[in-house]
Amino acid sequence: MKATATANANIALVKYWGKRDEKLILPTNSSISMTTDKMTTTTTVEFGKKYKSDIFVLNGKKISGKESKNVQKHLGLIRKICKKKEKARVESTNNFPTAAGLASSASGFAALTLAATHALCVSFDKKHLSIIARQGSGSACRSIFGGFAEWKHGEKSDGTDSYAHQIAPAEYWKEFTMIATVVFAGEKKIKSRAGMKQTVKTSPLYKSWLETAGNDLNSMRKGIFAKNFPIVGKTAESNALKMHATMFTTKPPIIYWSPATIKVIKAVQELRESGTECYFTMDAGPQVKVLCLKKNAKKIQAKLSNLTEVQKTILCAPGSHAKISLEHLF
Ligand code: DP6
Repeated sequence: MKATATANANIALVKYWGKRDEKLILPTNSSISMTTDKMTTTTTVEFGKKYKSDIFVLNGKKISGKESKNVQKHLGLIRKICKKKEKARVESTNNFPTAAGLASSASGFAALTLAATHALCVSFDKKHLSIIARQGSGSACRSIFGGFAEWKHGEKSDGTDSYAHQIAPAEYWKEFTMIATVVFAGEKKIKSRAGMKQTVKTSPLYKSWLETAGNDLNSMRKGIFAKNFPIVGKTAESNALKMHATMFTTKPPIIYWSPATIKVIKAVQELRESGTECYFTMDAGPQVKVLCLKKNAKKIQAKLSNLTEVQKTILCAPGSHAKISLEHLF
């Protein structure tokens, strides 16, 4: 009744932004991501009669309120699927800032799904794990897989065709690098969930986001298969800017950017103009993730680290799928 799993955060290269079903977490558009080899969540889950209610401890702190509600809800779903009743203690640690736009909900719900199903002695294939993880947090369905993954939006109303699959393993493109810059490590004010809901409802640009998603996905797939870095970088950058344009135009506007965000973007543009190829992508937070090839990574990391606004940089390569670990946290 006890198991531990690790899962890595994934960063979308073509973003998921908007739901067609909020309860089942079904997206309006498909997305493609890279699972990182850093930014890891480790989660131990123990079910047992000794627990009168679900307990959630994150980074050593007992969590209550909304954050623990989402975890309890996910445990409830897994109990229902596995036909079990016992409550659980969940302990989780992130080796990177939590809820700051660095995809901690993706690694978090992927690790929770794998650990909880394993603890209940039910072993699911990756497709089913992805379907379960998706219902905790959409982007988590991609962290079940390593390397590059695509989450198909699916057509069915019950969500059984909305899950991720791997499009290329981590070993396929080892030179691909992502440098996550941390400019503000605090928790964000507007969570992705609320942000995307407001965007779907009120942004006049949302229609064109949906109309152009197919093209971005095709270019991204082709770019990854051909290991064509300029295609992948340009597509990711323009897709992220388009997503932020939909956020800027919601009512009221959602602006995740800070002055430090612009500084990092400008540094990326300067590097590019001086012949060092790199591109940026951003999620629902002020952090900028810089995409480059391994041969240029140290130089770019040094330039970004020199900016006073940058508190930390995390250099990531394509990483592995969610895994069972034998070392429990408690
Ligand atoms: C901008 O997966 O955190 O990072 O499904 O509501 O939990 P919920 O949202 P979440 O949204 C991620 C949004 C994004 C883009 C992406 O990862 O594709």
